[in-house]
Amino acid sequence: MKEKVHQTVLVLDFGGQYKELIARTVRSLKVHSVILPGATPAEEVAKLAPIGIILTGGPFSVYAEDSPKADPALFGLGIPVLGICYGMQMMSAALGGEVSPCSVSEYGTTEVRVTEECVLFEGVKTPMQTLMSHTDYVSRVPEGFRIAAVTDNCPAAAVACDGKKLYGVQFHPEVERTRGGRRIIRNFLYKVCGAKGDYTMDAYIESEVRRIREQAGEHEIVLGLSGGVDSAVAAALIERAVPDRLTCIFVDHGMMRKNERAEIEAAFGGKSLNLVCVDAKDRFLSRLAGVTEPEQKRKIIGEEFVRVFESESAKYDDCFLAQGTIYPDVIESGANNSANIKSHHNVGGLPKESRFVGIIEPLRGLFKDEVRALGRKLGLPETIVNRQPFPGPGLAVRCVGEITEEKLGILREADAVFREEMAKGGVKADQYFAVLTSMRSVGVVGDFRTYGYVVALRAVRTTDFMTCEYVHVPYAVLDRASKRIVDEISGAGRVVYDVTGKPPATIEWE
Ligand code: XMP
Repeated sequence: MKEKVHQTVLVLDFGGQYKELIARTVRSLKVHSVILPGATPAEEVAKLAPIGIILTGGPFSVYAEDSPKADPALFGLGIPVLGICYGMQMMSAALGGEVSPCSVSEYGTTEVRVTEECVLFEGVKTPMQTLMSHTDYVSRVPEGFRIAAVTDNCPAAAVACDGKKLYGVQFHPEVERTRGGRRIIRNFLYKVCGAKGDYTMDAYIESEVRRIREQAGEHEIVLGLSGGVDSAVAAALIERAVPDRLTCIFVDHGMMRKNERAEIEAAFGGKSLNLVCVDAKDRFLSRLAGVTEPEQKRKIIGEEFVRVFESESAKYDDCFLAQGTIYPDVIESGANNSANIKSHHNVGGLPKESRFVGIIEPLRGLFKDEVRALGRKLGLPETIVNRQPFPGPGLAVRCVGEITEEKLGILREADAVFREEMAKGGVKADQYFAVLTSMRSVGVVGDFRTYGYVVALRAVRTTDFMTCEYVHVPYAVLDRASKRIVDEISGAGRVVYDVTGKPPATIEWE
């Protein structure tokens, strides 16, 4: 049977910070979307046969020598294009228009007035408040284009060439601060590109199941189950695709949270999943001894995981390794032209000499909230679907500097106390945990001097885990957690709360 392919919209990336938001907004409107580098050749784009293309914004000026450009042939493919911010300016310049520096740059909320009827604005209440962020503007539109909207300082806030289905907006319709922005993207998808809305969770499951079957053939599959939601959902999906050929391996690397292993066994053992728990503490901790650099720690852990999976799957001749890698893991590890922020333990493929025939990663294009929705569709219980994420490298990335059993012990207990107090206080957070800094500080208990580690507490709110805000945890909760950590845990001397968002920080400390 020929594989059913969803309609796809390509998001071409010119370095804008909102590219993921654009892709997610498109997907949430039931159209599949993929992000590709801005300079992807038109020929390659044509082969993918997208129903539409969205050009992202970017921090460049069209006239700067090294500014990224789309292949000009893209605009002659007959595929509808929506250029956003830099994307609109770059398209206009490529088609013979003119871009000039603004006399007044627009940053922040800006009112846009629609001056001519345009399909993009159908059903949108105008004038509308939008997010603008630009220092250049389209000063002359290309031939065949017209101006559809303006602001006080920008004479071309939206441009349109209906005949060729090419559109541009100077503001960012993908962010919440742009009122009606989602409707504009919906209009582009459904009224310009002819979207059918065929990207639903059911359709995703159906096509992924088929893809997994094709990829796996008759081979066995081993999957690294961390107990977090991603690997659990990946396991459920693979089990549905190739029943009874999946072995889930839970690696206890000695850097798990308190009671983690027992909870995993209770949640996953004895169910339809074939679960193997491996005690690998010694081999991980001995390889990490003396290592302090975060990236080196991550690389060692990533490789050691594969080695454990290999020895556990030695009984199968040629088998696949499956992982619950999701999109933010891939992006932050430096794929798709992004900067390497940190190497997520599960990204980067297999080490050169590995005995696996390949990797199966059915969630590689999804965000966390999409993974949760998929988990629900697959019938996983809320206790698993709503589990807060726990990174594969475990406490290693929360134990700053060298990892020792003593430090892990303090961290494990402090984390358990904080989680308990957060639960008691009913505080809502998407991820919360303790971090053991490598710093010790002086204190006084009774009449004695103490010199204990500084424990940091972190609680964040986020849906996509690409950005986050810290949670305003009530002082009463912080107070109870702090008192208990210093009183009950020997070696913990001081407690601080992390009030940094992402960006500029990341969620984990390493
Ligand atoms: P950061 O620290 O990059 O974390 O802001 C974003 C989300 O990813 C989780 N995380 C990981 N998950 N392997 C994983 O499976 C990793 O190596 C890894 N590093 C970070 C982190 O807990 C947060 O939810």
